[in-house]
Amino acid sequence: MQIRARLSMSADGYVTTPSGWPALTADPAFVPGQSHGIREFLADCEAALMGRTTFQPALTNSRWPWPDLDVFVLGSHRPEGTPDHVTTDDDPARLLEKVRAANRGGDVHLVGGPRTIATFHALGALDRLELVVLPLLFGGGSRLTPALSPDTGLTFLSQRALPGGAVEIVYSCAGRRGDLPGRPAEQV
Ligand SMILES: NC(=O)c1ccc[n+]([C@@H]2O[C@H](COP(=O)([O-])OP(=O)(O)OC[C@H]3O[C@@H](n4cnc5c(N)ncnc54)[C@H](OP(=O)(O)O)[C@@H]3O)[C@@H](O)[C@H]2O)c1
Repeated sequence: MQIRARLSMSADGYVTTPSGWPALTADPAFVPGQSHGIREFLADCEAALMGRTTFQPALTNSRWPWPDLDVFVLGSHRPEGTPDHVTTDDDPARLLEKVRAANRGGDVHLVGGPRTIATFHALGALDRLELVVLPLLFGGGSRLTPALSPDTGLTFLSQRALPGGAVEIVYSCAGRRGDLPGRPAEQV
């Protein structure tokens, strides 16, 4: 099981639009559940893990965003209307245990947002950071940092161009920046 954060971001580095929606939703090429390589990504995943802020809008969506995945939500309360099959917990370590206990060998899509990605990274549980960089400039919005520490070590694994002009970049997350072998902090 790998825990894989996958985030869309604008070419100027914002993971939300200026009004707070996930960056992907601003791309004219966005088709929910279909575009930007999500089907290939989800083929390896059996669970979705996210923070309550990211989860809550799904409760009023016309389409349930995670039809084939076990869903785990980190938050201080269980939002009203949360389906019975969704697991919630207010303790990240305990929720991580539940994710691991339920796992049948597939990967976990860590949906976000930045605070929840930082939380699981602090627990040593973030295996990959996968970015989908969109051909858009926002000029404002939220960034992944500083919620996720700028000291997070990233090691390049792969990249591919996606239809519509976005680029997917996959990093493994191991250690702090200065810990990377052969790469002193001042050079990275
Ligand atoms: N670009 C993308 O691909 C993408 C993907 C997902 C989300 N987003 C965007 O990200 C934004 C939300 O991100 P966010 O970082 O503000 O929120 P978030 O990570 O989605 O959720 C934050 C909530 O998770 C719970 N939480 C997080 N860390 C915790 C910890 N250590 N202990 C206990 N509970 C913890 C808390 O819930 P309680 O408040 O209930 O305690 C906290 O308020 C949204 O604007 C969304 O559109 C973008």
